[in-house]
Amino acid sequence: MCGIVGILSKNNDDVVSDIINGLEKLEYRGYDSAGVAVVGDGELKRVRTVGKLNNLADKLKVNPVKGGVGIGHTRWATHGKATEENAHPMVTKDVALVHNGIIENYKELKADLLQKGYGFTSQTDSEVAAVYLQMELDSGLSPREAFREMIKAVRGTYAFLAIFKTCPDMIFCARNKSPVAVGFGDNMCVGSDASSISANCSEIVYLDDGDYAEITKDGATFFDSNLNVVEKSRVAVTDDLVNSGKGEYSHYMIKEIMEQPSAIRKTLLGNDVPRDFFKGISRILILACGTSYHAGLVGKYWFEKYLRLPTHVEIASEYRYRSPVIEDNTLALVITQSGETIDTLEAMEYVRRNNVTCKLAAITNVLNSAISRSADFVFHTEAGVEIGVASTKAFTAQLTVLAKLAFSKNPELLNQLQNLPQVCENSLLLKEDIDKIAFKIKDCVNAIYLGRDNLYPIALEGALKLKEISYIHAEGFAAGEMKHGPIALIDDVVPVICLCPSGNMFDKMFSNIQVAQARGKNVIVFTDTTGAESFDGSVEKIVLPSINEELYPILYSIPLQLLAYMVTVLKGEDVDKPRNLAKSVTVE
Ligand code: F6R
Repeated sequence: MCGIVGILSKNNDDVVSDIINGLEKLEYRGYDSAGVAVVGDGELKRVRTVGKLNNLADKLKVNPVKGGVGIGHTRWATHGKATEENAHPMVTKDVALVHNGIIENYKELKADLLQKGYGFTSQTDSEVAAVYLQMELDSGLSPREAFREMIKAVRGTYAFLAIFKTCPDMIFCARNKSPVAVGFGDNMCVGSDASSISANCSEIVYLDDGDYAEITKDGATFFDSNLNVVEKSRVAVTDDLVNSGKGEYSHYMIKEIMEQPSAIRKTLLGNDVPRDFFKGISRILILACGTSYHAGLVGKYWFEKYLRLPTHVEIASEYRYRSPVIEDNTLALVITQSGETIDTLEAMEYVRRNNVTCKLAAITNVLNSAISRSADFVFHTEAGVEIGVASTKAFTAQLTVLAKLAFSKNPELLNQLQNLPQVCENSLLLKEDIDKIAFKIKDCVNAIYLGRDNLYPIALEGALKLKEISYIHAEGFAAGEMKHGPIALIDDVVPVICLCPSGNMFDKMFSNIQVAQARGKNVIVFTDTTGAESFDGSVEKIVLPSINEELYPILYSIPLQLLAYMVTVLKGEDVDKPRNLAKSVTVE
């Protein structure tokens, strides 16, 4: 969380607008406040604002700053409220610093610095890093020595960028568990991801945990945690690394929803499962968070049914704190769009540390992410860069990989998967029907989503999509579980959104819907042509194309995404940047 960008001009040109453009690509990482600092005319200059980046751009029009080297930050607040004082860059007399991560020992460092007479102006943990650098400079160390001392002193997670008043031709950066990419091109640049620096560079080096780098106009020198110089391979900046903008769409989310047929098609093309992938595996452990966790829940239905492997799905943030039993020969499969989610990364590392017989595989959407690099085996969802904070195309691409894995011994189902892109394409044509439902439910306070079998996780996911962007309180339930408590929530107003296509579970689900209808007046059913025949005009119906019932989770996710999107647009909320959220969750 938090996005960082730094640019060093090779010709001393002003870098501020390039930094702002880079930060714009990183707003998905947080948008509580933003700021920029430069060294220009021998002075450190800084501008910061609360709120989204456009506030900073407006402020810069009134108070322009210029410099040939600079750093910028877009914040997701952890320590200290989203105020201007807490906005980065943190600046002292001679240093400006931006930070993404959490400094766990900031209290002790701060106490020590206060005792030495240094003052603080923010409530952030990050400011201690800047003040620490200042202390080391005051003691006579060079910027390079000071930076090395600072990263030795801090404990926690970080991506740091620092510039020094006395050293305007350099940027220092370091990484521990928060991503840093150094870019080579017309200018030297550094950012949280490739998109943020791609306008200025053609090649990228990704820092590993413990690395730090010194960036000069001539290039960059990389050091490992023992301060040995290390050679790092450069990767070309290709389209799949870059956020190509919203195109014809008004929001990233709707663009990404619409991209799903192509994301699924591309994901199907790759990700062949090696013949001996499950050899020696006696169970599967899925670790993930949020939407990716919901994908894992679907995986459990498929893996147990088709591979006959016991499968456990765990919320990654809970997993390693409860002394789990990790059985031998487990396939630990982590699912993550960003590949950076710290809870998921730590859960995977926990398995690695505690049972060497486990195989660690990851499904990620970001190559070169921390989890991609750490897993023994990686399946890459080919969804392309996902910017909307609410995950859509990455989710259905994750399900596509899970389906390929689960059906790897079932040629008939593998064949059925090939129909998915076209059927999903057809489901997008339902947008206008779904818009009408959105109009009807936009003012509700609560919403209930019901599903059974492999559509139960999709009920959970549908509810998450709605609540996270529209702020309508929504809960998903296994329809059969309603009678054990949640049915008390049904009244004439609350929308009850039911996933009820034809197939094995239809009769049971149909009965559950009758029970809901007997108690409420606002039942909405997502079904297919055969299923629709059983419903009369007393329910709202959305009729989806037909497909093999094993593939329902992928298909039925799409109309629920469209519903959440449209409700949010109608409510006038910020679809792509919902309050309090960020896309890449690098704090625990
Ligand atoms: C919700 C959403 C989140 C993420 C979760 C895990 O729409 O996107 O719930 O799924 O934060 O993120 P990743 O998949 O990057 O590990």
